Amino acid sequence: MQVSLQRQPIENVEAEAVVLVVFEDRREDRMGLGELYDSGEIKGKPFEMTLLHQAPGMRARRLLAAGAGKPDKFDTAQMRKVAGAAIRHLKAKSITQVALYLDPAYASAGYAAAAVEGAILAEFEPDRHKSDKKDSKTIERFTVAAADGGPDLDAAVERARITAEAQNFTRSLANEPANLLTPMLLADHARSMAQEFGLECEVLDRDRMRQLGMGSLLGVAMGSAEPPALIVLRYRPADDAPQGSAHLGLVGKGVTFDTGGISIKPADGMEKMKYDMSGGAAMIGAMRAIAQLRPAIPVTALIPAVENMPGSRAQRPGDIVTAMSGKTIEVINTDAEGRLILADALCYARQLGCTHLVDAATLTGAVVVALGHYNVGLFANDDAMRDRVMQAAGAEGEKMWPMPLEDDYKDYLKSVFADLPNVGGRYGGAITAAMFLKEFADPTPWVHLDIAGTAWLDDSKPFMAKGPTGLPVRTMVRLAMDWAE
Ligand code: BES
Ligand code: ZN
Ligand code: ZN
Repeated sequence: MQVSLQRQPIENVEAEAVVLVVFEDRREDRMGLGELYDSGEIKGKPFEMTLLHQAPGMRARRLLAAGAGKPDKFDTAQMRKVAGAAIRHLKAKSITQVALYLDPAYASAGYAAAAVEGAILAEFEPDRHKSDKKDSKTIERFTVAAADGGPDLDAAVERARITAEAQNFTRSLANEPANLLTPMLLADHARSMAQEFGLECEVLDRDRMRQLGMGSLLGVAMGSAEPPALIVLRYRPADDAPQGSAHLGLVGKGVTFDTGGISIKPADGMEKMKYDMSGGAAMIGAMRAIAQLRPAIPVTALIPAVENMPGSRAQRPGDIVTAMSGKTIEVINTDAEGRLILADALCYARQLGCTHLVDAATLTGAVVVALGHYNVGLFANDDAMRDRVMQAAGAEGEKMWPMPLEDDYKDYLKSVFADLPNVGGRYGGAITAAMFLKEFADPTPWVHLDIAGTAWLDDSKPFMAKGPTGLPVRTMVRLAMDWAE
């Protein structure tokens, strides 16, 4: 999709269709829309779409009045969704060139960026492996149109394009089935992305990980014929960061398929576990945008990639492994594999010099029980780091909810035979998983994002296709971009 900015009043905008955002309880009088409000045909409800032909006074042939709900609830997050819903509506009608007009009140960088992101995210379809794509149409050109608005709109549109394209890259990775995306193939994708955008990429193989003492990660890989890979992507700013400045580490769970291992999962719904590398895919996607947007601080992404299988060499419940940090772990449940691979990746990130860490992982079913599908579970060992991530997430419309991480919960993580077990008990499953990770992240300021409920949409939305969402790519990009010492 080509993306651009047109500085034009709505009457002069050129496109096959022009989208105008309209509201509930705010009668729109332009272009003959007043009559439709009066008749009740347009109410302005969220995602209500009304397509008009030859609207009076417009150069464009079509006008799409896109409902956005109540004006006092309208924000950039809602703009992103309304733009997306408009694109999906027009796409279904085989329209290929669309402009979205920003009224003066919304002609700001934030709204322009949200419109572009909404459009690009709405364009994505998880249909890569369908041979018959006749039902899947594409928008070729998307323009943000504004009569006024500052000079910052151009940069905002460009940054939004880069970020949303990176998010779609993440979604395409997360959507790949596990036979076509093994740990090594995930590493290949990361490597070619790195080459295209000028990042360093290093892939650690099993031997190297053994040398580094990553027994926790390697234990998970035992049950699969597919070799594991620890993918490291490095971005360095052009100006060498001064001594003692921040170095952000982005760690993502890269389980290319999670059968549960010997503690095998039930068959029903297991196919969804191809998305268990969504956290890793998000960090790779974030690096794709970071490489282009060039924040001031160095950023390193680490993606431990494994397949969790119950092969004859698989680790067993009761096995004890030694993590890179030296801690011993009793593997009570082989299905709690994400924390085992992240333990070594977090430790290695610290060894590489990361001063601040964020991890994203489809870590627990328990976080879905706690928060449903609308909020990422956020855990932090440091208040300032939590605030940074919460702020970035808020600005990007990626909803996150702070969860407790207190020593009281350590009572749930006791092992008689090793330093710690890999699972807590029945209660607070998302918290005990985070407490386990904390053992390996401390004392480095760190945020853990449990994205098990938010990385996948089970049903399509008006603004987004069913399947991978690409969270939390935008938050990670903003976190890096907004970092200031
Ligand atoms: N990948 C799963 C988490 C998951 C479960 C994501 C359901 C999405 C939906 C993770 O590896 C896992 O299996 N976690 C276990 C942990 C348990 C054994 C303590 C879980 O949540 O059931
Ligand atoms: Zn699992
Ligand atoms: Zn898993």
